Amino acid sequence: MAEQKIAARGLEDIVAGDSAICFIDGKKGRLIYRGYDIGELCFRTSYEEIVYLLWFGLLPNKGQLTEWNAKLANERALPAALIQALQQMPKDASTMAVLRTAVSLSSLYDPDGRDYTEEANRRKGIRIIAQMPTIIAAFQRIRNGKSPLPPRKDLSHTANFLYMMFDKVPDADSVQALEAYLILLADHEFNASTFAARTTAATLADIHSAVVSAIGALKGDLHGSANRRAMEMFLEIGSMDRAESYVKEKFAQKKKLMGFGHRVYKTEDARAPHLKQMAIKLSQLKGNEKKWYEISEKVKEVAFREKGLYVNVDFYSATVLYYLGIPVDLFTTLFAMARSGGWTAHVLEQYANNRLIRPMSNYTGPMDLPFVPIDQRK
Ligand code: CMC
Repeated sequence: MAEQKIAARGLEDIVAGDSAICFIDGKKGRLIYRGYDIGELCFRTSYEEIVYLLWFGLLPNKGQLTEWNAKLANERALPAALIQALQQMPKDASTMAVLRTAVSLSSLYDPDGRDYTEEANRRKGIRIIAQMPTIIAAFQRIRNGKSPLPPRKDLSHTANFLYMMFDKVPDADSVQALEAYLILLADHEFNASTFAARTTAATLADIHSAVVSAIGALKGDLHGSANRRAMEMFLEIGSMDRAESYVKEKFAQKKKLMGFGHRVYKTEDARAPHLKQMAIKLSQLKGNEKKWYEISEKVKEVAFREKGLYVNVDFYSATVLYYLGIPVDLFTTLFAMARSGGWTAHVLEQYANNRLIRPMSNYTGPMDLPFVPIDQRK
């Protein structure tokens, strides 16, 4: 018998490291970035400002922000070889697989190459954050038979993304909603994708490898794809009168509802009320599509009544992104776009005070089996 250890299933409640970037109070439903409550930040700052805060621990002053905005805006364009590669990818490919592959490919063309100094890592991190929206918008246009639009430096990170997606300078309401979304999802402590990024970085692998690991982890339905699955659920329900029976049926079948539950929050997700505000506003602006918000509210009411379930960030993200006109199969790539700020901040923090991340398993297999040569095996 191997020595028995006690495993925390899914690492629940395990403190896996120190970090000064983000704090979640799961009992009170609070989310803090570098000391600031998310409610203080989400409608009063830009995504660029939040990334600066996550990276450097301070909100930038005007001069610092101007310089930082320019650094990000200057790195938005993709290398020609990357655009060509996107053009070769199957049009029906999983958009997260495309993003994962494109970020990986971008490392081959990064001007800092195999320079792994702190300064080079920062420049690479800026390029990853700046180029992810360009990759997503370029693939969206390519798969629809159009040429990608070059990014515009005169627009903000958020406005430029919407411009590259829809070939139109976006209205203020759309920019505000997407900006709030990106800010609210920019970081979330040691979630699965960030932990994957930190684990990869802790081997001293490069920042692109760490972010590619994170994109892979985010792709799953229990993490980033829940936003897409939640919207698919609302679309499948289709009308208010079907919502209650749909939820009850899922529970009877012991199926999970996407956009509900969380490992850390024991109450409503700190990000949900802010996203709800945006979902209400956008639903009012798009009067004839109000029903998606109404269906979501019915689903929420029944899930809480029947099983005491709280919504998580992906619940209202779904209707917000849908009202913004984002194709449902791109939702998770926008989650990645938002989280790139947090992933890179965590990777830089990991490099700055590194130790290999290497837990142990509780071995549950057999021991001391006699070896059987291949010609005697049954
Ligand atoms: N629908 C139905 N029941 C649920 C749900 C749900 N969404 N979430 C949790 N439960 C139940 C679960 O069935 C279990 O009940 P019981 O003890 O009777 O078997 C109990 O609550 C505990 O669930 P768990 O799966 O052990 O909890 P976890 O901490 O391992 O999982 C979770 C957390 C987020 C993976 C889970 O709540 C879930 O699968 N939710 C749906 C997917 C989702 O919305 N993911 C997004 C998470 S938030 C943003 C992000 O990280 O991307």
